[in-house]
Amino acid sequence: MERIRVAGSARLAGEVTVTGAKNSVLKLMAAALLAPGRTTITEVPAILDVDVMAELLRRLGCDVDHAPGRLAIDVPQEIGDEADYDLVRRLRASIAVLGPLLARCGEARVALPGGDNIGSRGLDLHVAGLQKLGAELDSEHGFLIARAPHGLVGAAVWLDFPSVGATENLMMAGVLARGTTVIDNAAREPEIVDLSRMLQGMGAKVDGAGSSTIEIQGVTALSPTTHATVPDRIVAGTFAMAAVMTRGDIEIHNARPEHLELVLDRLVGCGAAVSELDDGFHVEMNGRPSAVDVVTLPYPGFSTDFLPMIIGMNAVAEGAAMVTENVFEGRFRFIQELVRLGADIRTDGHHAVIRGRERLSGAPVEATDIRAGAGLVLAGLVAEGVTTVSELHHIDRGYAGFVEQLQALGADVVREPDPNAAVFGA
Ligand code: UD1
Repeated sequence: MERIRVAGSARLAGEVTVTGAKNSVLKLMAAALLAPGRTTITEVPAILDVDVMAELLRRLGCDVDHAPGRLAIDVPQEIGDEADYDLVRRLRASIAVLGPLLARCGEARVALPGGDNIGSRGLDLHVAGLQKLGAELDSEHGFLIARAPHGLVGAAVWLDFPSVGATENLMMAGVLARGTTVIDNAAREPEIVDLSRMLQGMGAKVDGAGSSTIEIQGVTALSPTTHATVPDRIVAGTFAMAAVMTRGDIEIHNARPEHLELVLDRLVGCGAAVSELDDGFHVEMNGRPSAVDVVTLPYPGFSTDFLPMIIGMNAVAEGAAMVTENVFEGRFRFIQELVRLGADIRTDGHHAVIRGRERLSGAPVEATDIRAGAGLVLAGLVAEGVTTVSELHHIDRGYAGFVEQLQALGADVVREPDPNAAVFGA
C-alpha cells in the first residue's frame, strides 16, 4: 500500500502531455467484442482500470496483448457470456460489456457492479433501454442476466437522464440489432463520439453522436478495426486547475480545448489566462484566483469529475462560492478530507458553500475516489507543510504517471509506502 506525500507552495510550471481517456478506452475495449478478429486500440493510458478490463476480456475468451500505449485484442468467433463479480466489483465500467455480449451471444450474465465510491448508481436506464430492444432482463444471485434468444430488434428509446453508460450500452447493442434504433436524450460526451467513431470504423451505421439524438441502422456483422483513443479531457482539466491553484504556468499537450469549454471559461473567470496551442492549450495564473460558482451537469455542462478540483480551488480563492452537484449523490464525501486541510466548507444537500482561505494546512487525508484523490493532491500543493494522500489505488485507476508528471512541473511530491496501511495490514 502506497500513499502520496506532497509538500505545499510550489508554483507548477512547464509542459505536460495527456494520454487517452480512461472513460473512453474502457468502452472501446468492450466494443472490440462486437467483431471477431484483431482490433487494435492506441493512445491507451497506463492505468489500473485498463488492466482490469483486459482481464475481463481474457476471461471472455479474448487474447489481449498489452504493450505500452497499445492494446491488441483478438476476439474469437465464440465468446463467453459471463462477467465475474471479482472483476466487475473493481470496475463499474465493466457493465459496458452487457450490450456487446447480448448482441453477439444473445445472452449475457454480468455481475452487478461496484466501482467508484460515489453513491448509488442505478442500472435502470440500461435495463429499460435493452428491454425496448427486445431483451429480457432479470437479476439473480448478484448477476444481471440478459437474454435475446431471437436477436435484438431496433427501437426508439428515450432516456430519462442522459446517462453515459446507458447510451454506450444501447449504442453497442443497437449496431447489431435488426432495423433502426433511435436513442433520444442521449449523453453527448466526447467519449460517446469516440465510441461512435470506433463503431463506424468497424462498419456500424451510427449517426448523431455528440447530439441528443443518435440513430443507428443495425448491420448483421462488424469487422475489427484500429482506433486511437480520444485525449483525456478530465486529466487535461486537472492540470489546468493545478495551474490556477498554484498560480502556475502549464502548457497542456494532446488536449482538446473544445472539450473543456465551460471549464476553461470558469478558469478565465477566476483570473487565469488561457490560450490555445496547436495540440492543446496553455494556462497561466498570476495572483490569487477569484471564487467561482459552479453547477455540475451532463456534458456540455460542467463535468462532475471536476468537482473535487473546483472545490479545492475555491478553498484557496478570494471570496466565497457555491458549488452544486447534480450528477452523483456521493461526490461530496471527499469534502470532509478537504476540511482536514483547513478548508472552510459547509454543505447542505447537494450544495456546498466554500469560503476561500489564503492557504490550506497540510495533514494526512484519504482519497475516496479517483477524482477526489487528484483533487486532494492539488490541495496539498497549496497547503502549508506536508500532506499525505492515502488510498492511492484510486488515483492509479485514472491517472497514468500522475506523480511523475507533477514532479516534472516542479512539485515536491513522491510516492512512498503507507506506514499506517502496513500496521493495519499486519
Ligand atoms: C461516466 C463516467 C464518469 C462520469 C460520468 C458523468 C465512466 C467509467 N464513468 O459514468 O467518470 O463522471 O459518466 O459524466 O465512463 N443513472 C441511473 N440509472 C442508470 C444509469 C445512470 O440512475 O441506469 C444515474 C447514476 O446514478 C448517476 C447518473 O445517472 O447519478 C450518471 O450516470 P452515467 O451518466 O451513466 O455515468 P457513468 O456512465 O456511470
